[in-house]
Amino acid sequence: MSDAAGLHEAAADAPVLPRPADAEVVVLDFGGQYSQLIARRVRECGVFSELLPHDVGAAAVAQRSPRGLILSGGPASVYADGAPKLDPELLNLGIPVLGICYGMQLLVHDLGGRVEQAQIGEFGRSDLHVVDPGRLLAGLPREQKCWMSHRDTVYEAPAGFTSLASSSASPVAAFEAVERGIYGIQFHPEVVHTPYGQQILTTFLADVCGCDQDWTAASIVEEQIAMIRAQVGDGAVICGLSGGVDSSVAALLVHRAIGDQLTCVFVDHGLMRKGEGEQVIAAFRDTFKVPLVAVEAEQRFLAKLDGISDPETKRKVIGREFIRVFEEEAAAISERHPARFLVQGTLYSDVIESGGGSGSATIKSHHNVGGLPEDNQFELVEPLRFLFKDEVRAVGAELGLPERLVWRQPFPGPGLAIRIVGGTATKQRLDLLRDADHILQDEIRKAGLYRSLWQSFCVLPDIRTVGVQGDERTYGSVVVVRAVTSDDAMTADWARLPYDLLEQIASRMINELRDVNRVVLDITSKPPGTIEWE
Ligand code: XMP
Repeated sequence: MSDAAGLHEAAADAPVLPRPADAEVVVLDFGGQYSQLIARRVRECGVFSELLPHDVGAAAVAQRSPRGLILSGGPASVYADGAPKLDPELLNLGIPVLGICYGMQLLVHDLGGRVEQAQIGEFGRSDLHVVDPGRLLAGLPREQKCWMSHRDTVYEAPAGFTSLASSSASPVAAFEAVERGIYGIQFHPEVVHTPYGQQILTTFLADVCGCDQDWTAASIVEEQIAMIRAQVGDGAVICGLSGGVDSSVAALLVHRAIGDQLTCVFVDHGLMRKGEGEQVIAAFRDTFKVPLVAVEAEQRFLAKLDGISDPETKRKVIGREFIRVFEEEAAAISERHPARFLVQGTLYSDVIESGGGSGSATIKSHHNVGGLPEDNQFELVEPLRFLFKDEVRAVGAELGLPERLVWRQPFPGPGLAIRIVGGTATKQRLDLLRDADHILQDEIRKAGLYRSLWQSFCVLPDIRTVGVQGDERTYGSVVVVRAVTSDDAMTADWARLPYDLLEQIASRMINELRDVNRVVLDITSKPPGTIEWE
């Protein structure tokens, strides 16, 4: 859920941040669960949107010269003490306004309609009956489904407004006053359970606001290149490549902008999956001709990890060593060409969730492994700072990044070390885990499931179990298969992989990996489990 209070700081800082362009649409966040999603859906219509806190003030909105304003939903009742208010000046900016759920109720409350708490709330799927399509619902079926989530209900639209639709619990589920440029819908157009939601948003954006709908991956690339050039000039830039989609796309964008002023550093800590290091090197050095320093540091990391089984200690040791190696390389590069800039793949969702600010986003501490200390001397270049993950992938594809890198599932900075559970990450155990993981990925890809899973991986607990193979007693390793679906890693569900696929995975692991005699499946969701085991 968005943190409206946290966003407040972002607002204070926002004007000083370089922005790709003026936002065509500003979405004001009233604390709703789906506020980020609204901003993403607007962008999916090809319109650049920014999500700002509800109390940012009309001046900050006007400064962006938007063509439209959307007021999000929120958990409050308009009558509650301390409920977020609407700055009346926002209605005098001369741009169309669309209120969604709480946003609509605020409009009704402030403009003289009737909104009251209903006896019964309306949560989930509802039948929407269009009584007058007006401008906002033009061309849509009279009867349709929509997704509702509210208790306060609009009983009467303000004077001068046309009521467009109703549902069984919402006498006024949509309204408009075309001449005043004010529109409202009680339901959530941004969720997939509202089948015509995207069409309604498109009508608002294109027809009502007159947006150009030209925010595409290609236009993002163009804009970012100009911004990077303006920020960096002829300075030297360093980028830490992890092989993940964020750092890969950030590096490619910067390389497109400034060519060989960029040097990438890829630290192979020996905790990667099979072939991963080679793929990164092949893509960047060979295909894209990006100056790349690849540091082979497996021995160094394994020596540090020797004898360590505690998960947090592993993370700390790896994180510290990573920074050390990176700083050594950065110093060596800077000796040849003093570097002032460092690329970071910070995403818009990080910026929103960390409360913005002009420096790098604060990443949750245990996710900071593979990151750099905050007191580093570099000025940050953050070309993904205004992009959601799906836009990063689209930009990656636009830049020609191989499909494997564009769609790579998230992989933790400390790598396979935190998947050797209850024991030390030795070379031998890592190799076994790498081989098991390779089989799993191979089968998941062949089954066409790779993209639909948030993550799929193996865990190697430090235990042995008895088995029998070819009339012989075995005492071998157990491989755990973990596959989850998720939207953001905050919650996750275990993936219902087909039985035939599970059988194929298990039998390949047991047949092809000498030391494995048992394969088990993790069927824990998050919460109560975490995605990783350590
Ligand atoms: P958990 O296990 O907390 O993981 O449910 C949530 C997401 O974060 C990833 N993860 C990490 N990423 N460094 C990282 O860069 C870490 O130390 C780390 N630990 C977990 C995990 O893979 C999942 O996507």
